[in-house]
Amino acid sequence: MKIFIDSGDITEIKEAQSMGVIDGVTTNPSLLAKGGRPTRQVIAEICEVVDGPISAEVVGVEKDAILREGRELARIHRNVVVKVPLIDEGLKAVRILAAEGIKTNVTLCFSAAQALLAAKAGATYISPFVGRVDDAAGDGMDLVLQVVTIYRSYGFPTQVLTASVRHPVHVVQAAMIGSHAATMPLKVIKQLTKHPLTDVGLAQFLADAKKIPELV
Ligand code: E4P
Repeated sequence: MKIFIDSGDITEIKEAQSMGVIDGVTTNPSLLAKGGRPTRQVIAEICEVVDGPISAEVVGVEKDAILREGRELARIHRNVVVKVPLIDEGLKAVRILAAEGIKTNVTLCFSAAQALLAAKAGATYISPFVGRVDDAAGDGMDLVLQVVTIYRSYGFPTQVLTASVRHPVHVVQAAMIGSHAATMPLKVIKQLTKHPLTDVGLAQFLADAKKIPELV
C-alpha cells in the first residue's frame, strides 16, 4: 500500500520524505490556508521534494471552472494529480480531464455509490474520508471495504486512496482491506513507527552493550 502525507507544510513533507516511507502527497485548501502562501507556489515546491503523485485541489464547483483550474494545476508538474470534489459538475470534469491524460483524485467521498460513479467517470483515485465518516457515527473502514470490493468485482482501474486517516489502526485496516494507498498527517506516520516494546528492548540492548568489554 502506498503511503502519502496529507499536508501543505514543506517542513513536514521534507521530514516525512527523509524517513524514506512516503510515495506521494495530498493537500487540500484547508491545509494550504494554514501556510498562507499561493497554492501553485507551494505545489511546485512539494513537487521538487517528493517524486510521486501530488494531489492539488480545485476550488471551482462548475465544470468549466474545474477544467480551467485543473489544467493550470496539471501544468505545474507531471506528478500533479488534480483533486476534484465528488459533485455532478466534478464528475463531468473528471471525464474530460481523464480524456486529456490528466490524473484526478476525486475527493470528499462518503458513500460507495459516490465511489462507483467516480470510477465510471474515469477517476485515477477515489478518496473515501474514513475519519469524517467515523466522526458522524458511521464506519469509515466499512466504506473502504465496500469500495475496494466493488472496484475489484468490476476491474475498475481507479485506485482507492483511504483519506481522513486519524490513527495507525485506520492505516493497518486500509492495508488489510487492500486499499491502494492511504494518506495521513505526519503525526500518524510517526505513530506508525512506535511500539513500547521496541523502546524497552532498545534501552536494554544499549545498557547491555556497555557491559561488553572492549578489545585490548
Ligand atoms: C484527503 O485528501 C484530505 O486532504 C484529508 O485526508 C482530509 O482529512 P481530515 O478529515 O482529517 O481533514
